[in-house]
Amino acid sequence: MVKVDKFIQDSIQKIKKDIKGRAIIALSGGVDSSVCAVLAHRAIGDLLTPIYIDTGLMRKGETEIIKKIFSDMNLQVVDGKENFLKALKGQTDPEKKRKAVGEAFIREFEREARLLGAKYLIQGTIYPDRIESEGGIKSHHNVGGLPSVMDFESIVEPIADLYKDEVREVARALGLPHEISDRMPFPGPGLSVRIIGEVTEEKLDVVRKANAIVEEELLEQFKPWQTFAALLEKGTGVKGDVRVHGWIIAVRAVQSRDGMTADAMELPWDVLQKIQSRITSEIPTVSRVLYDLTPKPPATIEFE
Ligand code: XMP
Repeated sequence: MVKVDKFIQDSIQKIKKDIKGRAIIALSGGVDSSVCAVLAHRAIGDLLTPIYIDTGLMRKGETEIIKKIFSDMNLQVVDGKENFLKALKGQTDPEKKRKAVGEAFIREFEREARLLGAKYLIQGTIYPDRIESEGGIKSHHNVGGLPSVMDFESIVEPIADLYKDEVREVARALGLPHEISDRMPFPGPGLSVRIIGEVTEEKLDVVRKANAIVEEELLEQFKPWQTFAALLEKGTGVKGDVRVHGWIIAVRAVQSRDGMTADAMELPWDVLQKIQSRITSEIPTVSRVLYDLTPKPPATIEFE
């Protein structure tokens, strides 16, 4: 994007014009919502309350990082773990899971908004989210998954026309730390779309640990556009002398420009072996680790 400064000035003016009262923003700590939070804070100051919902579907250590980075804003942290698990109980269809998470999000926000007297919701929806939802590929939780009955007077989406790399440019221009501006994308429904089928506390625990190992081994050294672990089904394995029925973990590492297409990264064998060895030894209930070679298309980046 050539005119980052102009974009920033224009969107601050637009937010000022569109928002006539208290507003909340769904802050996830990702680059999209962080940029929106800073833009909105500059536009309406203390009328803005950023809210971070700890859904229980977050990555290891995520809540702590967010608390640290946004400590100078009036950040509210809401513990929604139980509500999200309840909403996801028995759900196995990816779209229904997305909708369940989307609805749980909105209910939490509506409640907080009511308490604060906020009528406006600011969202970090970006251009590819809209395209994919409109094209019927999948309903991103912050677009197609919204419940039809909303308490908010309006939803404001300041970066709805930007691609991811443009959002990162804006983040740098706004002076956000590199931890945020270069943060890899993380889906709104969180780890729930990295678990095939029903989400349970046990599966969340396994996939969160596996994900942390994958990030530790790949993020700094290989700078993937996105990398993570997903939990598939159970399969037969052998640990010690005993046959076990253990979890199968898939590792994904891709390069991409904007998430619309992607290529699997060619990683050194010893690195893949180290990931396999760490996951199966540090998480005893995992007996098999796979590396996903598939580009997008025909696969998507996430597993659901
Ligand atoms: P897919 O899996 O569609 O992912 O190839 C493209 C990019 O979008 C992210 N993603 C989501 N983000 N809500 C989001 O906010 C969602 O429901 C969702 N599904 C996928 C994914 O992580 C990747 O960066």
